[in-house]
Amino acid sequence: MAFSASVGNFRDQLNNGYVAVPLLITEGVAAISGVIPTELVGFDIPRRLGAGWLKTNGVSEKPGSAAVLRSTAGPSVILVSVGKSFTDEEAWRLAGGATMRIAGTEAVSFLMPLDLVSDPRGCAQALTEGAALAVYDYKMPEKESSLIVIPLGSPLPSPEAVGDIERAIEDALTTTELVNWAKRLIDMPPRDASPRKLAKAFAKRLEQAHNVTVEIWDEDHVKEEGLGGLIGVGRGSNEPVRLVYATYRPKAGDSIPHVVLVGKGITFDSGGLSIKSAEGMMTMKADMSGSAIVMATLAACAEMGINIRVTAIAPMTENMTGGSATRPGDVLTIRNGTTVEVLNTDAEGRLVLADGLTLATEIEPSLIIDIATLTGAQRVALGDEIGAYYSNSDDVAASLESASRATGELLWRMPLHDGYNATLDSDVADLKNIGSGGGGSITAALFLQRFVGGKPWLHLDIASTARSETGRGYLTRGATAFGVRTLVHLLSEIASHGTAPSA
Ligand code: BES
Ligand code: MN
Ligand code: ZN
Repeated sequence: MAFSASVGNFRDQLNNGYVAVPLLITEGVAAISGVIPTELVGFDIPRRLGAGWLKTNGVSEKPGSAAVLRSTAGPSVILVSVGKSFTDEEAWRLAGGATMRIAGTEAVSFLMPLDLVSDPRGCAQALTEGAALAVYDYKMPEKESSLIVIPLGSPLPSPEAVGDIERAIEDALTTTELVNWAKRLIDMPPRDASPRKLAKAFAKRLEQAHNVTVEIWDEDHVKEEGLGGLIGVGRGSNEPVRLVYATYRPKAGDSIPHVVLVGKGITFDSGGLSIKSAEGMMTMKADMSGSAIVMATLAACAEMGINIRVTAIAPMTENMTGGSATRPGDVLTIRNGTTVEVLNTDAEGRLVLADGLTLATEIEPSLIIDIATLTGAQRVALGDEIGAYYSNSDDVAASLESASRATGELLWRMPLHDGYNATLDSDVADLKNIGSGGGGSITAALFLQRFVGGKPWLHLDIASTARSETGRGYLTRGATAFGVRTLVHLLSEIASHGTAPSA
């Protein structure tokens, strides 16, 4: 897919596709900036659009609501709401998404009146993100579309201001290209995204970035390393397991923070012998979302040259029902020696993550972050628009919250309630792989906590947000790769402070 975005000059774009005009809506009335180019004034846009006009044309305070004025003479104009203020980045993301949905493959020149926008960089970045995410189309990977951001001002914007906007657009393009790359892998049919194939796809993309190395561990290697959780989950499948171990190490030196990402890579989750319903299996090709998300995050850090060390670990396997499948009652030994009684083979994510987290603790992490489509209970708790997160550190939690606010990927902190730990006790092993008494997302998180060795840690349970059933705003139907933008934001904040928030 080719999506391009750049800064342009209004007059150069005049005969090209659509012109989009952001509308500020206050008290039901739209205000249009005073610096709209005269060409558009001739185009017959009133200075103020009254309540009646807005209502008839479906434009409201809801960011992204839009109307199109068609013209035979010049470009058609898209009037798109950015809501009640020009400072809300999420509103610009929604406006970008809505505009590209209308324009399709036609170029869009998006006016950005600098007299009204207090943070043109942030808004240009958000606008570009929303546009780039919305044009994703699994069936049309070659589709071309383009966004030209037109800064308007009187006096004309300085070259510095334009340069800032250009860099913001570049960053948005880098990150969203990787988000869309991850979405495509997640949306792929599960036979085409087996552990072997997916591991290769990860390596192929990551090796394009500077200072990145990728190792693919095959099944023998995984066994030698003692990853009993991953091997145990893989036993029911004819597809061999893989583990992808990627590192990004900028030249800057050794004293920079080292963040280790661990992503759940179940390429298809049938539930294993504790088999899912037909309905419950329909979306389970997306159970490798975490793995694609951590790889995309690492690649984005590398491509933007963020000054931080990142390691991304993805245990990859199918969870199937073959004759050698792990049985309810079997005991697996995780890499750190912990034994786990598997009472429900559908609680497989925590088993492979236990091995991944153990590996993470062994390489002096400043911070460990895992991300996984881990529990149906997470969706029950928070619904489709909010992901769950857990942390053993209030500092880390605060940093994640601020990253989440900046990107519009909503996350809510859940408790690592010690009282529920006892429900993981097993009669025959150190732990069992399911809790009891409700709070399924919490007991899964408590299970994972046993494997982080007290290191600063964040766990994201994104079962509900990893896919969008309907597509809304700038989200397309299917995979969302939810979390990439927030993790990139968090890591770049950590890099700019030079230290990770502490436990
Ligand atoms: N991959 C599923 C969780 C999931 C469910 C993700 C729905 C996205 C949408 C996970 O492996 C799973 O099956 N979890 C079980 C755990 C239970 C057996 C303790 C669940 O949530 O039912
Ligand atoms: Mn499962
Ligand atoms: Zn699963």
